[in-house]
Amino acid sequence: MAGAGVLITACRPNSGSSGTAANENTKNEGPKTGEEETLEVTATEDLMREHGILRRALLVYQESVVKLRQDAASVPPDALEKVANLFRVFGEEYHERKLEEVYIFPTVKKAPGIAASYIDVLSQQHTRGREITDYVLSITKADRIASNSVEPLAKALEAFVRMYEHHAAIEDTVIFPAWKSAIGQTELDDLGEKFEEIEHEQFGGDGYDIALKRMEEIESSLGLSNLEMFTAPAPPK
Ligand SMILES: [Fe+2]
Ligand SMILES: [Fe+2]
Repeated sequence: MAGAGVLITACRPNSGSSGTAANENTKNEGPKTGEEETLEVTATEDLMREHGILRRALLVYQESVVKLRQDAASVPPDALEKVANLFRVFGEEYHERKLEEVYIFPTVKKAPGIAASYIDVLSQQHTRGREITDYVLSITKADRIASNSVEPLAKALEAFVRMYEHHAAIEDTVIFPAWKSAIGQTELDDLGEKFEEIEHEQFGGDGYDIALKRMEEIESSLGLSNLEMFTAPAPPK
């Protein structure tokens, strides 16, 4: 292996193979202190921030359910298709299949404590999630959502959001801590590096950054990128 793919912010050009920095359109974002910022992401932080991306996808689904029921024509199928594709590639094929099902679940299943008892259900939920993603992709590939598919799609999205919110919450609070205790610090550090390698192999770059950017584009195309619009109204006095 040439470069150590352990650290994020690894000076990766976004496209092309040119090594020159001639055509960078970088904005003045992030620290530029002369030295390359190299902040290590631990394996559990990595898994949890991946959940962050997936939760943002769930939020888009949730908002789409409301819109579908109010005015189905206001929901562009291709935006939903993009969310489902992101969930497939980043959530199901990478986060679930390459990390959780290979490294996390088998270890936790053998560990003492209640965490092990969740693994079968969590695995079944991965399978059910993939079935629902297949369904969402099949419905949203058309130019418009057929009227007799609107309510079934809304129901499927709603159920998916409900399932995955619980799923990720249990993983964050029970499964990942149990996994961390079971493997110990040294293996955790090694697997942090391993996860970065898998991510680079899978996406040809920093998969998290790529997924985050894609999610931001989708939110913006749907008018969902202004956090303030989600601030709850004041309660009754
Ligand atoms: Fe999972
Ligand atoms: Fe997960």
